[in-house]
Amino acid sequence: MSEPAPNRSTIDALRADFRVRVAAAATDAALKALADEFLSRKSGTITGLMKTLGTLAPDVRREFGALVNGLKQEIETTVEERRVTLAASRPPADAVDVTLSPRVRPVGHAHPLMLVRQQVEDIFARMGYEILEGPEVEDDFHNFEALNMPPDHPARDMQDTLYLGSPIVGGTWGAHRSPVAGNHSIPIPAGKLAFSGNAPEAQVRAATLLRTHTSAMQIRYMKTFPPPVRIIVPGRVYRRDNLDLTHTPMFQQFEGLVVGEQVTMADLKGTFEAMLTALFGDVKIRLRPSFFPYTEPSAEVDISCHKCGGTGCAICKQTGWLEILGSGMVHPAVFEAVGYDSDRVTGFAFGMGIERVAMLKYGVEDIRLFYENDVRFLEQFPSI
Ligand code: DAH
Repeated sequence: MSEPAPNRSTIDALRADFRVRVAAAATDAALKALADEFLSRKSGTITGLMKTLGTLAPDVRREFGALVNGLKQEIETTVEERRVTLAASRPPADAVDVTLSPRVRPVGHAHPLMLVRQQVEDIFARMGYEILEGPEVEDDFHNFEALNMPPDHPARDMQDTLYLGSPIVGGTWGAHRSPVAGNHSIPIPAGKLAFSGNAPEAQVRAATLLRTHTSAMQIRYMKTFPPPVRIIVPGRVYRRDNLDLTHTPMFQQFEGLVVGEQVTMADLKGTFEAMLTALFGDVKIRLRPSFFPYTEPSAEVDISCHKCGGTGCAICKQTGWLEILGSGMVHPAVFEAVGYDSDRVTGFAFGMGIERVAMLKYGVEDIRLFYENDVRFLEQFPSI
């Protein structure tokens, strides 16, 4: 590189260039590179100018020597000042940068079955029901016999289940009960907190099987408390079913039981209307005669298809109706088994599958999706 001639405008241009660049030097390394460019012994621009001074006439040399020296000093001082400024503005090693935008933590979703369960619990909590759970390992008496299904009853065939290798002795259902139902702050009615750990004799049977329905809790509850009864029992149940689009060997149900004086089928229907319109919107309700050993009369309950409004579509298989739950008026034999006076009290009961409600409500066609834990599926449901 040929050295610039040492005249006034060269020096002014160098000064202007240096001032702009030193202000922009943001790191020690950039500052050092800049200082070297101007001052390094071998190739610095100023150093080069100094070398040319010797070729000038003495009076010119004096004048320009002073100018070059002045610039050299300015560069040295400014570089040093800039170095100090950079050091002062550098954050300490352990500093926290409060200007960083926060890292967004992924927030999970409630599982769709939990969404449905909470909605149903909320609906019944508003109607004053007590919400409680029961044991998943049961005995034959509560799961079948007291529900009017003696050992040879054909209705048992539809609910084959898993039997325990060795029975569990001494469990009671009371552990699941809390003074406040679910998350709903609905206090358990006065006089019903009486379960003190002294389970009625019938409760303390050896558990031999996985319950096939939550109906077993009807018996446990009525064995423990006198009427009136107004309960909802959510929970897991088990059957010897193979996995397919609509079956899993474990699934979830709601049991409902209402017992009191003069409870009628009108109460049953009104209750379902309230619950099912709260769950599905503006739907119609239809009762169809059915059979369950523990209710008489028994009814299957349908809602008008909430997708097509009842005109017929793929979801309702062109019928306009969707079967949603099984129900009926509690059979006098059940009252007898628990020691209630069937001349004084009547009641209704029902069982509803949580997966079935979730499938219909959210348009899910394969029940297995609920249990495969694929986040791409689970993320699609609203969070609560
Ligand atoms: N336990 C029945 C089932 O699992 C459902 C059911 C039907 C429950 C009628 C009831 C009822 O309480 O009254 O399929």
